[in-house]
Amino acid sequence: MTTILPHLAASFAERFGGGPDCVVRAPGRVNLIGEHTDYNDGFVLPAAISVETQVAARRRDDGMIRVMATDFAGAESQFALDAPITPDPVQPWADYVRGMAAVMLAAGYAVPGADLAVAGTIPRGSGLSSSASLSVAVGTALSALGGLDLAPATIARLAQAAEGDFVGMKCGIMDQLISASGIAGHVLLIDCRSLDCTPVPVPPDMAIMIVHSGVTRGLVDGHYNARRRSCEMAAAALGVAALRDADLAMLDAARAQMDATSFARARHVITENARTLAATSALTDGDLGTLGALMAASHVSMRDDFAITTPAIDALVAELQALIGPQGGARMTGGGFGGAVVAVMPVARAAAVAADLTYRTPAGDSPDILIEQACAGAGLL
Ligand code: GLA
Repeated sequence: MTTILPHLAASFAERFGGGPDCVVRAPGRVNLIGEHTDYNDGFVLPAAISVETQVAARRRDDGMIRVMATDFAGAESQFALDAPITPDPVQPWADYVRGMAAVMLAAGYAVPGADLAVAGTIPRGSGLSSSASLSVAVGTALSALGGLDLAPATIARLAQAAEGDFVGMKCGIMDQLISASGIAGHVLLIDCRSLDCTPVPVPPDMAIMIVHSGVTRGLVDGHYNARRRSCEMAAAALGVAALRDADLAMLDAARAQMDATSFARARHVITENARTLAATSALTDGDLGTLGALMAASHVSMRDDFAITTPAIDALVAELQALIGPQGGARMTGGGFGGAVVAVMPVARAAAVAADLTYRTPAGDSPDILIEQACAGAGLL
């Protein structure tokens, strides 16, 4: 059970005076398998995790939003709701807040003015969705303050639009939806076309380990949007609405109609969708060996066909796979170009695997290791 971060209430009082009307939390996520499939209408298998963003919020009646970030030395951004909302030229983190307010207004919601203080525990640059959790937390807070009563899936869609249309990262729905809708003790098989979520219990004897490579994900939006464009080109060449609708036979038959890059990107997505469904069955059966093998194949596909891993991440994954052996597995998780690796293994093996890992980050440090629980999605504290 999460509690309110001690410095959050203190920072709120210091900056705004008095206390908040409410405090909300929205978790980060780890994706077990199903990478770059969400914006291809495919399948993903994430869990919400215990690291999270918290927002302390109080209504204002002057149509202004003031937001301060305790984790950025109290940096502040403020904007009016009755004027065009534009990006903050000096505080890029605030664009997730501005973007959320802008898309909510554009969708016709009566967004209230607010004082907001933000704090979080998600390691920065780890690829565990700190930005999605910030947007979802702000949406949840504004919904509560304004009595809007927005459903989790609605907040997720708005947060995705904020990131795509306002921030400019044309992401899929996975991160926002799992942050809004996670279920404690479960991963969710998400059908990113229908947005149906099927909860799959995490077997009690399975540990979920997250290792932060220390390779921070820098300005990756350009690479990400380029991958998305390649997938859309491949889908168009195949004559399907999205790569979700294609199989390997169709792809092979259309090889001459697309460039080699689009072909490889599409092969990753098509095979990754199949692996994600197979992994869901393996998890349901408690079959960690099969799950691990599918994760290993996913990593190879991200490395060779989707070209989103880095040599340091490949080395970390290889070492984890060797330490874990056949009863589990490891792969990079998230958008790529750095960030975290996810591993599954019997609970009894986790301490030894963590202790034996010799990987060092590019700065020469031992990596941060989290043993995570699947947690509930966003809500009031
Ligand atoms: C990022 C995006 C998600 C998803 C993953 C890759 O986290 O925000 O929508 O595409 O990358 O699976």
